[in-house]
Amino acid sequence: MTVTFRREGNAGLVELANPPVNAMGLAVRQGLLEAVRWAEAEPGLDRVVVSGQGRAFAAGGDAREFDGEPVPPHLPDVLDAIEACPVPWIAAAHGVALGGGAELMLACRYRIVAPGTRIGLPEVTLGVVPGAGGTQRLPRLVGLAAAVDMIATGKPLSADDAYEMGLVDAVADDPVAHALALDAAELAARSALSSLDGPEPDEMAIDKASASVARRMRGQVAPQKAIDLVALSVSTPFAGALRQERETFVALRTTDQARALRHIFFAERAAKAPDWLDAEPQKVESAVVVGGGTMGAGIAYALLLAGIAVTVIETDADGAERARANVARIMEASAARGLLGEDKRARIEAALTVSTDYADGASADLAIEAAFESMEVKKAVFSALEEALPVHAVLATNTSYLDLHEIAATLNSPSRLVGLHFFAPAHIMKLLEIVQGAATSHAALATGFDLARRLRKVPVLSGVCDGFIGNRILARYREAADTLLMDGATPWQIDEAMVAFGYAMGPYEAQDLSGLDIAYANRKRQAETRDPNRRYIPIADRMVHEGRLGKKTGVGWYRYPGGGGKVEDPLVEDLVAEEAHFAKVARRDFTSEDIERRLLLAMINEAADILAEGIAQSAADIDLVTVFGYGFPRWRGGLMHHADALGVDAILADLRALETEDPVVWRASAAIVACAERGIGLAEYRPGS
Ligand code: COA
Repeated sequence: MTVTFRREGNAGLVELANPPVNAMGLAVRQGLLEAVRWAEAEPGLDRVVVSGQGRAFAAGGDAREFDGEPVPPHLPDVLDAIEACPVPWIAAAHGVALGGGAELMLACRYRIVAPGTRIGLPEVTLGVVPGAGGTQRLPRLVGLAAAVDMIATGKPLSADDAYEMGLVDAVADDPVAHALALDAAELAARSALSSLDGPEPDEMAIDKASASVARRMRGQVAPQKAIDLVALSVSTPFAGALRQERETFVALRTTDQARALRHIFFAERAAKAPDWLDAEPQKVESAVVVGGGTMGAGIAYALLLAGIAVTVIETDADGAERARANVARIMEASAARGLLGEDKRARIEAALTVSTDYADGASADLAIEAAFESMEVKKAVFSALEEALPVHAVLATNTSYLDLHEIAATLNSPSRLVGLHFFAPAHIMKLLEIVQGAATSHAALATGFDLARRLRKVPVLSGVCDGFIGNRILARYREAADTLLMDGATPWQIDEAMVAFGYAMGPYEAQDLSGLDIAYANRKRQAETRDPNRRYIPIADRMVHEGRLGKKTGVGWYRYPGGGGKVEDPLVEDLVAEEAHFAKVARRDFTSEDIERRLLLAMINEAADILAEGIAQSAADIDLVTVFGYGFPRWRGGLMHHADALGVDAILADLRALETEDPVVWRASAAIVACAERGIGLAEYRPGS
């Protein structure tokens, strides 16, 4: 039974029982309707209290059903029946009441939540709109401004905020007991929200919400549609507006954007330790972080937040001082954003040690090296770690590019070494690449996955190669951009094309932010092993030679006068034109479509190689890497999901056309050829298959 109901005195008690989070699929909808019919037939009931079993009230419509045809009874009809029931319903919620769960609350006459409950209408984050009355009942309850903000952003509210706003009537430790104690006459006098007049008009609130989603959710269809629906509540009669809401919801469910957002939602939840990993993770109570720079400090803070004691090791007293200041700065920023209370801060400060002596980390269960990217430095660090830490401790490197196998070879027990590649800022970015070397033990890997869980990060397993999954794709993206630059485009044109595609910023602005020197060092390191037949574009090297390192030097691809916003720099156009002249390139025009197509193809082709080589386990893993680590638009579902939307046949045809221009750079990946031959998408491709 996914919905249970029973009588207790004059009350009907209805419970959703669809673990783990009471998603409201067909069986739940049927069960709720049965409960309504039962309550209608039961003599002498003065209330029905609906609650959820397990850890949630209800997580909303079952998103797994969204690919198929809607099957009745539909949720809006079920909720209408609840609202029309002669016995008043009371929602007694705990955990989360999201989407259809929140709409169920709105169909009740009275709403009670336990402290800590989160209530929200997050449909836009799945590319749809509330489809069961949310856009019409909520503004009638809390007014237009509050409703449009909540629905357009999809952000859930805390119990206290929902109470303050008037969304819920009470916050109580035991919502069901509270519901049973309510005065029956008061309850009977309550009106159904659908019977209330629409809210006062508030054009400013609507305009503000539209402007905000145009900026923050650029390119996405659902948020503006949701705003339009909320705006209807002012003057359109409830039933008509509800019909429009339903039509919009049904039409959006199967759009590319909604499919892409669902794909990422489920891929994120599926990102766990692989089934073949049979070892238990090392229990981590304390950890060493080697290096207290920006990355090390971010990692240390992330560990501390998860309740792990941390010793940051630095080379000298000055370094230690800087490390402490770096962690303090992050704490300061978190506190300023209201994310770190006094108590927690005090606990974190007490759990942090900064030292120059590895012996201070002698009881650690895990070490994460985040030192300077030099093989010599890494080797020295790991030798010191191996000497100082207990044998059970897992040793991890946060290297972005260096060869894990070479580091492992210097250890007495190479099986202890795993790559844990964090992304800056490490306490915020959700991606964690877990890198498996040839000798990495299952226990070390399992520890990485368990740590990701504790840090609430999205773990993705990667094999060893230059740049692992993410940076290897990034290098190709930059190479393709630089080639376009050499052959005729400007940095601003390229950036604009990728912003139009959905990135928050283009590749050149992004490089200015991270600094051009990092990629420069990598290119130097790769020089010896680079395919001599591969075209090399020296423009970025020249930029570095001229001291244009990006925002930190006030000038990179753009200029940043007074440390402020970016300004296009004609000197860069001159520099590019000179380099093209030296290389005897006849520059030509590229359209935005050309730019987008080439940059995406370059990344897709490299990612397909990464799949074919077994560096990534699945296309979905690459989607997670690109979305959570590299700013690929989530609403496009990640790089490989987007590739499948374009179609492997079309991609292969495009690559073949470009191969005539440059047969080395545009040689089609074996995985793409195999998919085209077998008529499957990249999502179905598995390494070695
Ligand atoms: N439809 C279908 N399945 C859902 C679901 C939904 N609306 N919400 C959660 N699930 C599934 C998850 O896929 C996961 O399945 P798995 O165990 O097979 O991996 C399981 O329920 C637990 O979810 P998870 O996210 O791992 O648990 P959590 O406790 O961290 O978070 C929620 C719970 C409800 C906060 C979170 O799952 C969520 O935000 N869900 C979506 C809510 C939503 O957008 N509703 C509107 C739908 S239009």
